[in-house]
Amino acid sequence: IEDFLDGEEASFIVMVDGENILPMATSQDHKRLLDADQGPNTGGMGAYSPAPVVTPDIHAQVMREIIRPTVQGMAADGIRYTGFLYAGLMISHGADGKPIVRTLEFNCRFGDPETEAVLPLFDGDLAQVMLDCVNGTLTKEEVKWKKGCAVDVVLASEGYPSSHSSGEVISGLEDAKKAGCLVFHAGTTRKNGEYVVNGGRVLNVVALAPTLAEAKAKAYEGVSKIHWQGMQYRHDIADKGLKHLKEK
Ligand code: GLY
Repeated sequence: IEDFLDGEEASFIVMVDGENILPMATSQDHKRLLDADQGPNTGGMGAYSPAPVVTPDIHAQVMREIIRPTVQGMAADGIRYTGFLYAGLMISHGADGKPIVRTLEFNCRFGDPETEAVLPLFDGDLAQVMLDCVNGTLTKEEVKWKKGCAVDVVLASEGYPSSHSSGEVISGLEDAKKAGCLVFHAGTTRKNGEYVVNGGRVLNVVALAPTLAEAKAKAYEGVSKIHWQGMQYRHDIADKGLKHLKEK
């Protein structure tokens, strides 16, 4: 098991119409609460897309060895799988330098917080693509990806992940948007005309930019505008991706 868990995780999400497979942009989640992958596991403290750990060669390998055999195997068993298929991967390298890709899990859904990073890069009609999944008419041509990168920083409430606070007034949402970020609500509610905390993972602050470094800087600029008592977040979302890019 230790060997199996040795490496770097990546999220490989595709859409399937039973036969045809359309890969979404790759992404990477950050499961631990604290910087440098310390602290308890969470539902995910942030994500970025695309994930450079999935090189073009590894992408082809994953499609060939994991995704296609899974979809074809289900079809052979009489299961016409349609919709999102999410493979959680662990990527490492053998002594010969060759990539070793292992599948940790499959989810029959998109990922959170991956969705908030991947979909803003999606340049197409998502509803149409979903319909094509159902109708068996998925084609590679119908989806384009915007150039650039997305970084998604999750803002969590005090006590998360073992518990969570609630009721704190959230300030700075408009300023984060003015800083060019998208702000997706997860654990919020409205009280007396204001947004207040109402869950563990409260907001996703997402920035798009031409480079991963710029997207990270812009996302954290947005985060710096938002405040509530006890807000917690990681400061190193996308750093693993930046490390890969430097190594190239
Ligand atoms: N990001 C992990 C999940 O959606 O399962």
